[in-house]
Amino acid sequence: MCGIIGYAGKNEAAPIMLDSLRRLEYRGYDSAGLVVSRDKKLYLTKSAGYVQILADLTEEGAQMPGHVGLGHTRWATHGQPNDANAHPHISDGGTIAVVHNGIIENYRKLREFLTGKGFTFSSETDTEVAVNLIQYYYDRSHDILRAVADAARRMEGSYALGILCEDLPDTLIATKRESPLSIGAGDGENYITSDVAAIITRTRNIITLRDYEIAVLRADGVELYSGELDRLTRKAEVVDWDVAAAEKGGYPHFMLKEIMEQPESVRRSLSPRIRDGEIILDELEIPDDYLKSISKIYIAACGTADFAGVVMKYNLERIARVPTEVVFASEFRYNLPPIDETTLVICISQSGTTADTIAAMREAKKNGARVLSIVNVVGSVIAEESDWSLLTLAGPEISVASTKAYSTQLAVGYLVTLYFAKVRGTVTPDAYKTAVDALVRLPDAIEETLKLQETTQYLASRYFSSNDIYFIGRGLDYALSLEGDQKLKEISYIHSEAYAAGELKHGPIALIDAAVKTPVVAVATNKRLIDKMVSNAVEVKSRGASVLALVTDVTAETMRGVAEDLITVSDYEEAFLPSLAIIPLQLFAYYIALQRGCDIDKPRNLAKSVTVE
Ligand code: M6R
Repeated sequence: MCGIIGYAGKNEAAPIMLDSLRRLEYRGYDSAGLVVSRDKKLYLTKSAGYVQILADLTEEGAQMPGHVGLGHTRWATHGQPNDANAHPHISDGGTIAVVHNGIIENYRKLREFLTGKGFTFSSETDTEVAVNLIQYYYDRSHDILRAVADAARRMEGSYALGILCEDLPDTLIATKRESPLSIGAGDGENYITSDVAAIITRTRNIITLRDYEIAVLRADGVELYSGELDRLTRKAEVVDWDVAAAEKGGYPHFMLKEIMEQPESVRRSLSPRIRDGEIILDELEIPDDYLKSISKIYIAACGTADFAGVVMKYNLERIARVPTEVVFASEFRYNLPPIDETTLVICISQSGTTADTIAAMREAKKNGARVLSIVNVVGSVIAEESDWSLLTLAGPEISVASTKAYSTQLAVGYLVTLYFAKVRGTVTPDAYKTAVDALVRLPDAIEETLKLQETTQYLASRYFSSNDIYFIGRGLDYALSLEGDQKLKEISYIHSEAYAAGELKHGPIALIDAAVKTPVVAVATNKRLIDKMVSNAVEVKSRGASVLALVTDVTAETMRGVAEDLITVSDYEEAFLPSLAIIPLQLFAYYIALQRGCDIDKPRNLAKSVTVE
């Protein structure tokens, strides 16, 4: 998705912004641009293609002197990914420059209005409407803050805007609605960004801009205003992400590095919340009476976060005995199930800025449900607006394919499940103690599982040229199959699907093609269900499939002889086994994508955080 960087300071803006744009590349984009303000003039360079093209055009920024500027990576929504549609956009009058994330939904109406006022347009973007609308109001008031506030009031949809006005060469302005935008408060230099990872090497002091607020940045400080232009004060929060976590640190890809970081990320997410054998969720402050009154839980999330929700659902129902449904946030928001004050909606999101999950959260609240969020980014919209929020402590996740965020979502899901179960009295003291002990040992068990790296690499070399791969599983193994399938398809572009194994006979088994020995990954870690899974593996094998079974050292024996290949993790507490079994599935996808020569950290057409609908 699009990325914004803005700089106001004492140093040269362009080289700093290029560095940040490179850090935003992982989000996915198709064009990039820079504008700097100097001597009451705006200087613009933009181009379709990679940030490197921009760096070459500007000689790493040396050709664009100036101490205040804006940079952008664009992921096309309105119009082709070409030079004209790339950001920044300059207003028809030439006074204002804008970079924009989001979608201005009423842009056609506004474009007509501005055309009627004599404005001309040189791109197909909704952003050019925003910049001209600000120019329109600026021409009337000659007050840039008022112009931004007036324009913001007329725009519908979502936007995060960085704005320069050539009459104020030392000033950078920002405002937002629904799209994320943060301010980095540095020493003699200040930043705006849509993604804190872009500036974390320069400052950790972050102010999250709220909807309709307007920020004014200069080298010596940041001023904050409400949409009505009343002065506001808010202290910066310190983001304690490790700077090295946003760098590759010797690994060929962020994805592999983040897979390897999982023991540590899970440890960070679990250990401060387990004290003397008790799960302590200080941050939650959910009254016990409310917890006991919950009649239904909905989990609303997107993509991998949704699949972490499926694991959570199985555990919540079995251990905490609460009926739970997982609904894609994009469905939930427009097809609201019956909810009331006894409904808890759990929103899971790495970024905390996914447009559909934000909308689902708001709809749930509006209709009387309480919302608990599980989020990785402190201060993000979802973390701030939910009734209760638990942070996953994965650190910055750069690879588009989520791995360590998923693992920490599972971990926090386990804590919530056991905590709820204890309060609701659905778990015996012995079972609770056994489960908490297992949680304490979990990071080490994940570390041990990472030793499967070589075996998985070998298996990937056997399957990488397949056109189709299917995943099957039951219960928690089905939940894992969904994520194994997601990882594989998004980075290797192999067509893959995940099915509940019991559903095979009702349709999907027709896809097995003996001529190509269609590979089927049978996820079969669950002792209770192993016989059923063996039957399903036999069914596909007898129709010509080649079966790769993911088993435990306990279930392996039953599956041996059926599967061509076995990959074995250690047996563990049933509820937490997904945390081990996901490791070989992530590595399998990674090594297959590597063998196919794919752009692993930046898969085609995908974006790290989906801030538009
Ligand atoms: O930031 P979020 O967790 O809300 O993002 C949700 C999905 O967009 C995300 O998990 C996506 O599916 C990843 N590419 C998965 O690897």
